Amino acid sequence: MREAREALLAFYFSDFVCLCGCESHRCGREDMAAKTVLITGAAGQIGYSLVPLIASGQLFGENVPVNLHLLDIEQAQGVLGGVVMEIEDGAYPLVRKVVATTSMAEACKDVDAAFLVGGFPRLAGMERKDVMAKNVGIFQSMGRSLNEHASPEIKVLVVANPANTNASILRDNAPRIPAANITAMTRLDHNRALGMLAKKTGVEGGASAVRNVIIWGNHSSTQVPDADHATVGGQPARAAVKDDAWLESEFVKTVQQRGAAVIAARKLSSAMSAANAAVDHMRSWVRGTAAGEVVSMGVFGNGQYGSPKDVCFSLPCTCAGGKWTVVEGLSVSERVAGLMKLSADELIEEKALALQCLAEMAK
Ligand code: NAD
Ligand code: LMR
Repeated sequence: MREAREALLAFYFSDFVCLCGCESHRCGREDMAAKTVLITGAAGQIGYSLVPLIASGQLFGENVPVNLHLLDIEQAQGVLGGVVMEIEDGAYPLVRKVVATTSMAEACKDVDAAFLVGGFPRLAGMERKDVMAKNVGIFQSMGRSLNEHASPEIKVLVVANPANTNASILRDNAPRIPAANITAMTRLDHNRALGMLAKKTGVEGGASAVRNVIIWGNHSSTQVPDADHATVGGQPARAAVKDDAWLESEFVKTVQQRGAAVIAARKLSSAMSAANAAVDHMRSWVRGTAAGEVVSMGVFGNGQYGSPKDVCFSLPCTCAGGKWTVVEGLSVSERVAGLMKLSADELIEEKALALQCLAEMAK
């Protein structure tokens, strides 16, 4: 009995470090094992917005320390050095280690969550397909490096465009990593749809009162924003909006074209909202979705809702225990099904084009 008590006391007064600065060993916020996060393209504008969100605990939680692996190319090392200085100057209590590197092998080591942002952004007047030739090569080598150096448990989010097709190329080149661990980001489109419905209805609580929009298909102008299963302030979106024509036309087009509208206005592609969406995506995946909450994720499904296999297609998902599951059995209108087919065809075509680009690069 005495021994047990002593063992318990030794346990309590062992070398736990309290993270909240209270100098107590027993305030309940013991140091947990650090999680390691990789950000590629970390010297870029999304990287710059992503770092403080992760460093302040918005991904893994406010009591989980983080190691940051920041990868960029040689030419961006000066800028990346500045990002590292700012992380140090932020004195983030959760940051344990920062590795700034140009080596993919070093960057991939022991990573729990990878944000693949590195690549060339779309400029005014360009379609996502135009950035393909530049970016698919990056994702071929990224896939090979992850295959060789990363843990198969890694969770990968592809952000760089064309995100869904980059994810497909990555998957083809990383056979050791389960396809379920490779996803592409359509959460920004999802959040844009939530924001638009909140603005249109003026619902109290704003976007937090809007739930369960679905983005189907590609993160491109063929994506299908669908509010048929969404709720606004607890009531069906159609009843709250009271304007079916708007929901089927302006709502869809505005979400589809929002990336281009931001580029036209900022002369740069979205970064703050993209970083926020990337953390939302990864947090849902790692820590689970709320009860009744459905989120949109670019995933390799098994043909649900007529989505083509072997391309990364945005589908409605719930997450629990570190795994995503496609929500099945939702009704899909003829209008939405027709649009989904167009986005699916585009993804098949994009993948073929990507493979062609890679074949030409290999010559
Ligand atoms: P950016 O130009 O500011 O930053 C990109 C960074 O990637 C640069 O620092 C660059 O040096 C680096 N980079 C280039 N090649 C690399 C490589 N081989 N390895 C590692 N790093 C490399 O661009 P950004 O605004 O941060 O956008 C990044 C990407 O994200 C773009 O492709 C953009 O189109 C895409 N994007 C996607 C979404 C989405 O919703 N999926 C939203 C916004 C932007
Ligand atoms: C976005 O949706 O904001 C990004 O994908 C940028 C782009 O190329 O549209």
